Amino acid sequence: MKLNHLIKLGSFGISTVLFQRKKPILGTIIVTDKCNLNCKHCSVNNHNAVIHPYEQIKQEMEFLYKKGIRILFFCGGETLLWRSENKTLRDLVIEAKDMGFYIVNIVTNGTQKIDLPEADLILLSLDGDREHHNIIRGNTYDVIMKNIDEATSDNICLYMAINQINKSCIQQVCDVAKDKMNIRAVSFNFHTPYPETLDLALSVYEKQQCCDKITELIHREYPIFNLKSAFDYIVHNNFPTPCYQCVVMENGKLSICGRCIDVPGLCEKCGYFFAAEYTLIFSGKIKVMVDMLKTYLRYI
Ligand SMILES: C[S@@+](CC[C@H](N)C(=O)[O-])C[C@H]1O[C@@H](n2cnc3c(N)ncnc32)[C@H](O)[C@@H]1O
Ligand code: SF4
Ligand code: SF4
Repeated sequence: MKLNHLIKLGSFGISTVLFQRKKPILGTIIVTDKCNLNCKHCSVNNHNAVIHPYEQIKQEMEFLYKKGIRILFFCGGETLLWRSENKTLRDLVIEAKDMGFYIVNIVTNGTQKIDLPEADLILLSLDGDREHHNIIRGNTYDVIMKNIDEATSDNICLYMAINQINKSCIQQVCDVAKDKMNIRAVSFNFHTPYPETLDLALSVYEKQQCCDKITELIHREYPIFNLKSAFDYIVHNNFPTPCYQCVVMENGKLSICGRCIDVPGLCEKCGYFFAAEYTLIFSGKIKVMVDMLKTYLRYI
């Protein structure tokens, strides 16, 4: 990350805390809800299976930039299925960087070829060892490993949603991250129990055990892109919600925090680590701020 961007993000953070502002800094654009998979834990794929056109995405990028967003994510559906007017997701990433976004990340299921050197991070979902990942995501583990090995850049961060099926696989996912050259780190979330996937939710005790395991791995120098200072809040779901510094844009609709905000009662059971980390930082938790600074400087 460039030093001047870091300084600007820092001053945004300080003014947000001091004046209790609700201005957003992190935005996600959903480029499509179309997906080639149908994962057991997912509630957002293929509702309309629409690929949003380039002009619309461009306008959404400009809108978010004008609103002050400087950290941008592209997400889906399967994000890498996006194509419009001969453009690919890589063109969107390059355009976003040219527009002035400081950090541009994408989220993918890893089943398509990976050629996105301009992205700051490619968050690539891996939900366990081969057996458990494939139970959740169909028979995709081997093709994902091949795509990681053949990726044209080393900016991949594994992304694991921990649930009842794969809660014993934290170490295995971290081992993959440590072993593969193109992988920089692993980032975890807990399952967020939408009404149709309640059975995959973890209890407080299970979340604590997972966080203890992740903490142990951080101490053993595994590359983990989460803030351990936020774990206690995440385990007990006692961080403030929603996160006003994050917004999502899907097909022209802007939501605060996540598109999940419309699901009644979900925020009290939120498993998304970013929501906890950002609300804690912007509510002035010094330990979490220092943790974030160290972690971001290490991996971005
Ligand atoms: C919705 S997917 C979209 C991008 C891409 N298709 C993928 O799978 O990475 C983004 C991330 O959300 C995660 N996810 C989906 N449903 C979830 C849930 N109920 N709780 C927590 N994470 C979830 C997925 O595992 C994935 O890492
Ligand atoms: S690949 Fe991503 S969007 Fe598709 S079903 Fe799985 S989690 Fe959902
Ligand atoms: S806190 Fe944010 S990310 Fe978590 S469930 Fe609510 S809207 Fe979604």
